[in-house]
Amino acid sequence: IVTAGPTNEYIDPVRFITNKSSGKQGYEIAKSLSKKGFDTTLISGPTNLEINDSINLIKVETAEEMFQATLQSLPVDVAIFSAAVGDYKVKETSQLKIKKQGRLNIELEKNVDILNYISNHNSLRPKLVIGFAAETNNLENYANKKLNEKNCDWIVANDVSNKKIGFESDFNEVSIFYKDNKTDKLKYKPKSEISDELVEKIINHLN
Ligand code: CTP
Repeated sequence: IVTAGPTNEYIDPVRFITNKSSGKQGYEIAKSLSKKGFDTTLISGPTNLEINDSINLIKVETAEEMFQATLQSLPVDVAIFSAAVGDYKVKETSQLKIKKQGRLNIELEKNVDILNYISNHNSLRPKLVIGFAAETNNLENYANKKLNEKNCDWIVANDVSNKKIGFESDFNEVSIFYKDNKTDKLKYKPKSEISDELVEKIINHLN
């Protein structure tokens, strides 16, 4: 399974909180896996992207829906969590459109961390769990922190403050941090090539 894209967290029926993820890197990873013969499920938040029929696409909107879809897709050998899941959801989503008023306070509460839940679950955990880290600063420290706290085998980290890569771009540059303290760098190249290289590493690892 691959999770990809942003999530929408609803304030009322017409408004939501989201983020800038395009889903491109996750979709490319699903394509690379499928090309190499993996039976691939892509669990995607809202994006403008399309994918061919050889990939089982599950479209979701909220983090909760992404969580449920992920649970229902288990067990799997490899799980790649590239989605930019909203960290918070609105505590009480209004069923009716909220009318303009002097001041509006919206209370947020934490969403479930899908990666953390699955990766730290004894019986659900896939053999290989790969998380992503989007950082604007202290990339190495934060990536290693996520690697450990979320019990990942690998973390793929990118610097989202670099305008040449990330989000809407078709290009990326990532560092891979492994559990055994080794690291790799995949230099600036199309997201499709980053994905092919990542999948080669996955195949080598499984072999
Ligand atoms: N993730 C997830 N569920 C969440 C939040 C994050 O599965 N509710 C996963 C992402 O798909 C990614 C990894 O956790 O693989 C790291 O996500 P990121 O947003 O970089 O980190 P956070 O844990 O949200 O921490 P912070 O926003 O503080 O950097």
